[in-house]
Amino acid sequence: MLKPVPLAQVEAPVVDRLPTGIGELDRVLGGGLVPGSLVLIGGAPGIGKSTLTSSALGNLATAGRKTLYVSGEESAAQVRLRAERLGEAALGVPIVADTDLEAVLATLEAERPEVCVVDSVQVLYDAALSGAPGSVGQVREVAGRLMRVAKERRITVVLVGHVTKEGSLAGPRVLEHLVDCVLSFEGERERTYRTLRSLKNRFGSTNEVGVFEMHDSGLEEVADASARFVAEATRAPGSVVLASMEGSRPLLVELQALVAPTELTPPRRIANGVDRNRLALVLAVLARHGGLSLGSSDVFVSVAGGVRIDEPGADLAVALALASAARGVPLAAGHAPLAAFGELGLTGELRHVAHPERRLAEARKFGLERILHPGGPADLGEALSGALGPRREDAKAA
Ligand code: TYD
Ligand code: MG
Repeated sequence: MLKPVPLAQVEAPVVDRLPTGIGELDRVLGGGLVPGSLVLIGGAPGIGKSTLTSSALGNLATAGRKTLYVSGEESAAQVRLRAERLGEAALGVPIVADTDLEAVLATLEAERPEVCVVDSVQVLYDAALSGAPGSVGQVREVAGRLMRVAKERRITVVLVGHVTKEGSLAGPRVLEHLVDCVLSFEGERERTYRTLRSLKNRFGSTNEVGVFEMHDSGLEEVADASARFVAEATRAPGSVVLASMEGSRPLLVELQALVAPTELTPPRRIANGVDRNRLALVLAVLARHGGLSLGSSDVFVSVAGGVRIDEPGADLAVALALASAARGVPLAAGHAPLAAFGELGLTGELRHVAHPERRLAEARKFGLERILHPGGPADLGEALSGALGPRREDAKAA
């Protein structure tokens, strides 16, 4: 028989942390790596996973931690070449380049590093299993065995996993339930901005986001992302600043829309950085309640800098950008861009979203005085006429 214990009497160990020395990464992790935890970093090839993990290990090694880099994808020489770009710290990390799971496990037992990066989980394989490296069976086995060692020996293991553009893959998805923390590294390869977000975190909050920029000498943290994006905002028709929340952090981003006549049926609806389904919803609400029907136009919406926004609070900004683009009228008054946030309801009403005060404070901090948000205009129609003036036909009728 088991004896139930009141939760208040259960001993809860204080979680100590290993700071990686990369502020944005530590914040997303909830204050650094937790000893003995299993972290998965997923992302498209070329996004910067190896760069980020190499830098983090370098900092940990410099801080006197015992580290190990297991490279299954690249030769030791290739990893060295990258480390040279990242600086002295990264060169201090011991490396083994192998894909045999048994050999890697034996190395972990012998070396007992405090933090180990496995790059990537898809190339390691267990010779006793029949599946090819990267198959669901192999990836599960590899992660499961590594987890056992991690917990037994209190080794923090950071698994790197490739995710294809569609997010499909045998790797990270099948591991999400197994690991303590899932980080997703995103961005467009051609652009320099990268965002790191936490999708699951047993030791911290999810939906924290870190912003980085890829340079010649590695990833640089962008602590002042809002300032960058506001400064880069074009202020042209179709441009608006969205005051979004990324976890606990307000982030101002420029949202751009382009509306162009088309012969295509159905017309194109392209969304970069915002959800396609929310774009469809905003278009429907605009047509029904905003007097703007774009049924014979191609529509492109994009978040500048390659950032992805994943919240309904973007609706109003998307609608404003589309209306501004369609009418060819800028939302910016003089030098100051218009800022907006808020969700659109199906009946055209503006709905409240989380943390309005933080969004407003962030916008004001960067000199944006005109901010449209729920609580101001009653509905979408009012927001549109407030931002762009009355439509020509309405003005004529009046
Ligand atoms: P990488 O970390 O190898 O990506 P991943 O492990 O996710 O596949 O790096 C991706 C790209 O970043 C690569 O094409 C080269 C570029 N890069 C830089 O621009 N600057 C740098 O300092 C480094 C190390 C890489
Ligand atoms: Mg890599």
